[in-house]
Amino acid sequence: MKVLVVGSGGREHAIVHALAKSPKVDALFCAPGNGGIAAEAACVDIKATDVEAMVAWAKENAMDYVVVAPDDPLALGMVDALAEAGIPAFGPRKNAAVIEASKSFSKDLMKKYNIPTAKYEIFTDMDAALAYVRAQGAPIVVKADGLALGKGVVVAQTLEEAEDAVRAMMGDRKFGEAGARVVIEECMTGPEVSVLCFVDGTHLSPMVSSQDHKRAYNNDEGPNTGGMGAFAPSPKYTPEIARICMDTIFRPTVDAMAAEGRPFQGCLYFGLMLTPDGPKVVEYNSRFGDPETQPVLSLLDTDLLDIMCACTNGTLDQLDIRWKDGAACCIVMASGGYPLDYKKGYPISGLDSVGEDVFVYHAGTKLDGDTYLTNGGRVLGVTATAEDLERAIARAYDAVKGISFQDAHYRTDIGRK
Ligand code: AMP
Ligand code: GLY
Repeated sequence: MKVLVVGSGGREHAIVHALAKSPKVDALFCAPGNGGIAAEAACVDIKATDVEAMVAWAKENAMDYVVVAPDDPLALGMVDALAEAGIPAFGPRKNAAVIEASKSFSKDLMKKYNIPTAKYEIFTDMDAALAYVRAQGAPIVVKADGLALGKGVVVAQTLEEAEDAVRAMMGDRKFGEAGARVVIEECMTGPEVSVLCFVDGTHLSPMVSSQDHKRAYNNDEGPNTGGMGAFAPSPKYTPEIARICMDTIFRPTVDAMAAEGRPFQGCLYFGLMLTPDGPKVVEYNSRFGDPETQPVLSLLDTDLLDIMCACTNGTLDQLDIRWKDGAACCIVMASGGYPLDYKKGYPISGLDSVGEDVFVYHAGTKLDGDTYLTNGGRVLGVTATAEDLERAIARAYDAVKGISFQDAHYRTDIGRK
């Protein structure tokens, strides 16, 4: 089969790397891809959000299957457009991608179907939102309704912070139209766990659990980022908790989407908080997480193309999906200054120094002759597997020490908590 993966980050490299192992893949393409992805797939220079150009290219070049990885093209309806052109694709249609693209949609869905989540109210009027915040008091959570590059959430510890967030989102439109509507919700407490599930519209199959680290610096300090590292599985996600999540969250969500006439096909990401009252949903994503995908797919022991096609065909229940024992850990090496200002174009050295059981996923690199250059905020996801989490962490950090580029920044406490 000729397969195209849409996207350009570490997550897409992990998907490409897994698909490259499939004997059914004859030719692999990635648009737009990056320096590291180019070693495993032919990169095509089309922006991930350019639905028209992507579909035209896929048609002209007779793609048999397309994997749409990022949230934006999913929300824009790339999977629908591909289907219209007769090309099957992995990922939800636009009417199901809304589970991530609109927080008010997902909160109302959870309320209607009794899926545990934080109590909330939705506002389109700033003064009403401010009055509600003052009545509730802090801590309180303010969220822009639409997609805001993972930055549209403020967990406010004080009333002042909460009011500032409301004004920035609704008044100053810091995130554009994404902030025309805000969700204000109760602040939950407890450890966070991410569970990505393969879903075929009806059936679902959870992947191994994982945990992201969103803050830029050690001890969860500093600004929020796209994710500075992740490990899998999470020791806090016990079989008992997994059973509760399946019964009260995963299955009810998949059933709810089907009942709403929005059957979800693709990867449904459950961001969970293990609160004193049981597991609750923090957020849904309509796609694989980044960097969670890097450790999670490192542990997959079944052909990824088979699983993806089963999601598209509604035959997931006929597959036996296997996971490797042990654990995986991904350390993100970022450009100095990320997530704020940073420079690009520094040569990366030591990429060949990594040992067995380590794979370096490229997030923001480009190839210049035979040298890889930094080309983004998150540059590399150095990912190790081992028989347990402790060893996976140690092995990943060993590998990180051998890799360098100017002003490289990474957290030294991934998986330590
Ligand atoms: P989100 O983009 O919705 O995943 O939110 C980003 C982060 O904000 C989450 O990973 C949580 O750490 C935090 N967060 C979001 N909603 C809540 C909540 N209701 N209570 C406490 N923390 C939250
Ligand atoms: N790592 C969080 C996300 O992909 O949204």
